[in-house]
Amino acid sequence: MPDVTSLLAERLQAAFDSVAPGADPVLRPSDRADFQANGALPLAKQLGRPPREVAEAVVAALDVDGVCERVDVSGPGFVNLVLDTAFIGAQVVAMAGDERLGVASAERPATVVVDYSSPNVAKEMHVGHLRSTVIGDALVRILLHLGHRVVRENHVGEWGTPFGMLIEHLVDVGEDTAGRELSVGDLSVFYQEARRSFDADEGFRERSRRRVVMLQSEDAETLRLWRVLVDQSIAYFDEVYGKLGVLLTDDDIRGESFYNPMLGGVVADLNDLGLLVEDDGARCVFPPGFTNRDGEPLPVIVQKSDEGYGYAATDLACIRDRVDRVGADRMLYVVGTPQAQHFEMVFAVARMAKWLPEGVSAEHVAFGHVLGQDHKMLRTRSGASVKLVDLLDEAVARAESTMADRDAPVPPEERPAVARALGIGAVKYADLSTDRVKDYVFDWDRMLAFEGDTGPYLQYAHARIRSIFRRAEAERATGAADHVDVAMDIATSEFPDPGIAIGEPEERALGMALLGYATAVAAAADASAPSKLCAYLHGLAATFTTFYERCPVLRASDAATRRSRLELARTTARVLAEGLHLLGIEAPEHM
Ligand code: ARG
Repeated sequence: MPDVTSLLAERLQAAFDSVAPGADPVLRPSDRADFQANGALPLAKQLGRPPREVAEAVVAALDVDGVCERVDVSGPGFVNLVLDTAFIGAQVVAMAGDERLGVASAERPATVVVDYSSPNVAKEMHVGHLRSTVIGDALVRILLHLGHRVVRENHVGEWGTPFGMLIEHLVDVGEDTAGRELSVGDLSVFYQEARRSFDADEGFRERSRRRVVMLQSEDAETLRLWRVLVDQSIAYFDEVYGKLGVLLTDDDIRGESFYNPMLGGVVADLNDLGLLVEDDGARCVFPPGFTNRDGEPLPVIVQKSDEGYGYAATDLACIRDRVDRVGADRMLYVVGTPQAQHFEMVFAVARMAKWLPEGVSAEHVAFGHVLGQDHKMLRTRSGASVKLVDLLDEAVARAESTMADRDAPVPPEERPAVARALGIGAVKYADLSTDRVKDYVFDWDRMLAFEGDTGPYLQYAHARIRSIFRRAEAERATGAADHVDVAMDIATSEFPDPGIAIGEPEERALGMALLGYATAVAAAADASAPSKLCAYLHGLAATFTTFYERCPVLRASDAATRRSRLELARTTARVLAEGLHLLGIEAPEHM
């Protein structure tokens, strides 16, 4: 089933081609009509003809029989397209009959590596890692749904010089105490204490330095201690992932240590390629185009003067691994905006070395900060950084009390699961719905509200439609309804001849909104922007609300209208549930 946008794009392209081969129709959704094609204006300029005349020529050549009800030229030369109502109905019928709801599977599936979450061992997993986890997971789900091969990689930071200090601190406090602190997420305490000893105590510093060397040379006892740190932290990360309900598993962990054996090769190969420059004892690459404030070229430091390798060297080895071993066509790095320059420079070096071949893309999927109500970095009242498990538990607790306040009609045995879906969904949606590169303010009341652009609003819209069907089913069971159509199950698409009949403007608007689904999913994938899917789903839910206020469904005046409206409602519920699912948000039956 081709979606409406592609169908129109194709027909318009043919018409534009007949005027001037290859001209771009510039097809856009429109306020004036359903769609508009603005391409006549630039084309007229290029041809040196009056724009309206070019637009008229396009319209004359355009074949949209049975698709559009009206096509006209307006203003300086816009082509306005109004879809045929029967066509909208037929398209919705086709969508409803498709288990993929009209979302096509990629013709050429790509291998996409998604680098996300990536917290650091023995260091607080902060809200930035929460954002990465939530955004990355939504992208993974969307790309998988589009038929791509997706490889999740959790680039956990568990290697490098800080581990000398962390292991020595572990030795000092004892493994039991350390384990207790780390596995419950008191990571910052552990890290800060280690730091304090390091800053205050020359002996500790010396031990730490020796420990780094032992770690690098894979001393057995040192590796065992290191493993304790790593395992305890991962147990904590897993707890957070479990609460969040993300796809990440321990099999997706591809930490920095994995690349350690490859770092020597990175240096040697860069050297052979003639790209390495000695700078103050450090071995660097200077990718062209990167300078500091004073206009001096900026280095990517591959190996420090003390022979140690840094974050950039690991990322270079990582790119080679993703291209060579994983076979990536596309790599997404879901990491905060402060690392923008790091990635630009590392990608530039990888291109120079041809480790990143032409056909492979590397994209930094950047995101902004999470701010508190005071518009500063999110902190607890005492000023400590926010512990993620506490934050997620609070979300669920708050959702429970919201449900109690609203007297939510949820069966008692389902209440805990619904509260979880609501609370976690609210946190995720608040994160996903803002343009990711922007900072956003973490506001409990707003994100848990049942009104506005929130997770609960979408979940509620879905649950409300399900309740219409439960009522319909009850009416049928008691013989109160004389139509068989209510027997259909909302979750299946086996519904003989649903026959959408669009009469009211609100029905038309809902039909049009439904038909935008495939385009919204594709747009979210192309721009790595879950917010585009959020905005679409919110628009759909709002359109449904208006429809439901104006158009009685179960009390429709005749059987055909009732059947048609039920089908519109059913398809809306399916899109909402699937769309939320693609965002990693649950859609409960009752709310
Ligand atoms: N561990 C890093 C941090 O917390 C993020 C790693 C992102 N991924 C990467 N390939 N560099 O800042």
